[in-house]
Amino acid sequence: MGTAANALPADLELDARADRGSARPWWRTAVVYEVYLRSFADADGDGLGDVEGLRSRLTHLADLGVDALWVTPWYPSPMADGGYDVADYRDVDPRFGTLADVDALLADAHDLGLRVVVDLVANHTSAEHPWFRAALAAGPGSPERARYFFRDGRGGGAEPPNDWISAFGGSAWTRVREPDGAPGQWYLHLFAPEQPDLDWGHPDVQEEFDGIVRFWLDRGVDGIRVDAAPAMAKAPDLPDAGHPPGASFDAGSWVGNPHWDVDEVHEVLRRWRRIGDEYAGDRLFVSEAVVNGPERLSRYVRPDELHTTFNFDWLKAPWDARALRAVVDGTLAALAPVGAPATWVLSSHDETRHVTRFGRAHSGAAVMGFDAAAPTDLALGLRRARAAALLTLALPGGAYLYQGEELGLPEVEDLPEEVLQDPTWERSGHTARGRDGCRVPLPWSGDRPPFGFSPDGVVPWLPQPPGWRDLTVAVQREDPSSTLSLYRAALRLRRDLPDDDALRWLDLGADVLAFDRGPWRCVVNLSRHPLPLTGLGRPVLTSEQVGGELPPDTAAWLVTG
Ligand code: GLC
Repeated sequence: MGTAANALPADLELDARADRGSARPWWRTAVVYEVYLRSFADADGDGLGDVEGLRSRLTHLADLGVDALWVTPWYPSPMADGGYDVADYRDVDPRFGTLADVDALLADAHDLGLRVVVDLVANHTSAEHPWFRAALAAGPGSPERARYFFRDGRGGGAEPPNDWISAFGGSAWTRVREPDGAPGQWYLHLFAPEQPDLDWGHPDVQEEFDGIVRFWLDRGVDGIRVDAAPAMAKAPDLPDAGHPPGASFDAGSWVGNPHWDVDEVHEVLRRWRRIGDEYAGDRLFVSEAVVNGPERLSRYVRPDELHTTFNFDWLKAPWDARALRAVVDGTLAALAPVGAPATWVLSSHDETRHVTRFGRAHSGAAVMGFDAAAPTDLALGLRRARAAALLTLALPGGAYLYQGEELGLPEVEDLPEEVLQDPTWERSGHTARGRDGCRVPLPWSGDRPPFGFSPDGVVPWLPQPPGWRDLTVAVQREDPSSTLSLYRAALRLRRDLPDDDALRWLDLGADVLAFDRGPWRCVVNLSRHPLPLTGLGRPVLTSEQVGGELPPDTAAWLVTG
């Protein structure tokens, strides 16, 4: 039969930007592309990505066929955590551009039929935020300190107030020097010490963020990604969590934890939903919420809360048919009662890239990607990643793509230690390298760094491997068998999938995932043996070049009937 990889039959070619003519809101099925702004494209030549760089490359995203982009924080920031430490929520960091650049970005994106989602970091501010500076200056017991969690230490003040831990390692508390120079109170930071947690029980905090949400919705953004949503409420009186010594921040396994997924967080989400609903145009709220299982996750997307939430169980699952099917079934079953769509995700700026992960013996994601560099087979990982893309994009609901996955980029595991910037590196005492390896700037064109990311001669903020010359957008655009061509074809065909959430499993063996959605059939072979395709339908897209059989670690989309 000889189905060419990525072959797109002419009769199925669709306009990438065609409206599905659906009455359902766009976000139910949207494919959203995560732009890690620091690493997407650098227009001003400082080695760091920026808003103008993004604007200049929007046609790549329109051409790829995604529906929307989520842009990581562009706010003024000391960059202790790559911009997730915000000093001013209503402006743009000069290194990234200006508010006028953002307006131009929104206009151009909308002209291209792309929606834009911004990142809202509301659990914590930067330590350089005026509120936190005022809190430090005002001293214990002041109203300024009440917007954060300042507490006296235990053991006469020398020990942290409780046993809570930071996502980046170590205690979640840091002791301050009081204005008179003496060691004083402690403040809470579930992330880096430069990211003090706000007290969301405080009316000032609630009202300030109402204004910030409105500021961006008024500006015309189509959605808001809620960073670290489960962190935004703490159990009253801040009791010990009972973490064992050396515990890691394994939020997906916690039950009844006093600093994560506390029920009061839903009050905040309802408040924002009420604001969003005042606006025309189907504005979207999507949360980042790593919680314990699909039922807890479904609480974030109840009808009066957020619209969607990333499904991290998909990302954490190993390349194993049973495990992947269990996530699909568990997710759909938990979300159906609340009426929310699933939102599948394989990679992000916080996780080991899935090409690398799928080539490892243990192919599920480690907590926040903070795993030691286990050996990987990148050829196998890429093969699985391509199959996983077809699997993910065939499922009911929406999907998030992380920049560079459409190029099949691997994790960069050999960054020199002196360039590492993720706070995890320092906080782990140089035992965990952190997340920089998935944040290396994109290769656009040319045969040597900076590969069109920055103007020639500029050194990007993280070095790109010379071998990425074969993975640039320019090279892959010309190659019909490239990963970029596979994603483009899949995203075009995907627009023809039935506009409902129905999925019917077929039994083609224990290590094969196969399901129908209307006349569409997706078959993924996770076994060690080729799978005959005879009688299964007409192949319209395959993750590799195939004949009459689907080889191991390969996926096919077929049309039946
Ligand atoms: C989220 C972000 C991550 C950041 C953290 C703290 O998990 O995705 O990059 O470090 O929140 O804001």
